[in-house]
Amino acid sequence: MTQPSSDFYRIKRLPPYVFAVVNEQKARDRAAGLDIIDLGMGNPDSPVAPHIVDKLRETLSQPKVDGYSVSRGIKGLRRAQAGYYQRRFGVELCPDKEVIVTIGSKEGLANLLSAITAPGDVIMVPNPSYPIHPYGSIIAGGSVWHIPNTTGPEFFEQLHRAIKHCKPKPIALIINYPCNPTAEVVDLAFYEQVVDICTMHGIWLISDIAYGEIYFGDTPPPSVLQVKGAKDIAIEFTTMSKTYSMAGWRVGFAAGNPHLVGALTRIKSYLDYGAFTPIQVAATAAINGSQQCVEDLRTLYRERRDVLVDGLHQAGWKVQSPEASMFVWAELPEAYRKVGSLAFAQALIQHAQVAVAPGIGFGEYGDSHVRIALVENKQRLRQAVRNIKQFLAMDSEEVLHGLAAKLS
Ligand SMILES: Cc1ncc(COP(=O)(O)O)c(C=O)c1O
Repeated sequence: MTQPSSDFYRIKRLPPYVFAVVNEQKARDRAAGLDIIDLGMGNPDSPVAPHIVDKLRETLSQPKVDGYSVSRGIKGLRRAQAGYYQRRFGVELCPDKEVIVTIGSKEGLANLLSAITAPGDVIMVPNPSYPIHPYGSIIAGGSVWHIPNTTGPEFFEQLHRAIKHCKPKPIALIINYPCNPTAEVVDLAFYEQVVDICTMHGIWLISDIAYGEIYFGDTPPPSVLQVKGAKDIAIEFTTMSKTYSMAGWRVGFAAGNPHLVGALTRIKSYLDYGAFTPIQVAATAAINGSQQCVEDLRTLYRERRDVLVDGLHQAGWKVQSPEASMFVWAELPEAYRKVGSLAFAQALIQHAQVAVAPGIGFGEYGDSHVRIALVENKQRLRQAVRNIKQFLAMDSEEVLHGLAAKLS
């Protein structure tokens, strides 16, 4: 017998998820009876608002909802999303040509990248970033030019450098603000500059504003589509997962440039039949209905942020307080910088029973940080802070020595 090759071209290019290391340790410790406080994954923990669940129930009992749905999304939902862009950003969108529903935004991002990328095409992606941003391009057979994930002048310097030196010329740039993992936000002037550069050089712009409604100050984060002329080059992804805590329901959107929306529509028409119709109807009710649940969610995350950040500051860990997103992007305490984010995260779970996401999982430039998700209640966060305080008081050399012994 000759064994077929399992040296699969794409799989070889997808490293095992770094987060799996921490997840395995978490599972082992839990099996041993330890109470692990899980601030690793950005999985929203709040229940979906009752009026949205009621709409789902009501629609489930209607006739003819069990069959295939519509790949690009039911018209009512596309209209609702266009209405949201109009109300929130003052942006006009044609629900037929400029809006598409996706099965979560991750699916949409991956399929858009596969629709527009030819083998060897280069996509510019900030680093660190949400993994599907670089790996969507790699899965599609393209390659990635990493740009350090900053928002100051150096971002633009790096962007110009990439455009000038990269051969072949990059076909697209991905941006994500409020950012996962860095929690960084930008203003409209930033988007104007980015749109300007991409327009000048003929580069598609792919924006992901998954956390656009999870903000804590008075100024809501903008959309790139607010920039005049952005629709000539830009598409933007949003999601119900974070705004309405509907992560498991799998509903997201892409909106903007009709060629990009059209390309995504075409490829999806070969791949899926759309999200389950009752879920799309309930999502429509969520967008068109009262937004009090979104306001409540913002309050919830803001309070959790304050508990965590204030607590960590009192414990001597001076992390930056995020203005938006569900994350604290925390630079490693000085004593642990030399070992990097994975070892630090492993030590934290071992000694503080707190799981966080190591920054290296978001790209090599993320290794100086860990991402702490605000996905446990305030009481649990206070417990996490107490545990972390005790951990930080330990002798770091002893901790690292013990960790090395354990892993060897
Ligand atoms: C920046 C960013 N984009 C997209 C997604 C995917 O969201 P969805 O549930 O819509 O696929 C996430 C999920 O964590 C995210 O952090």
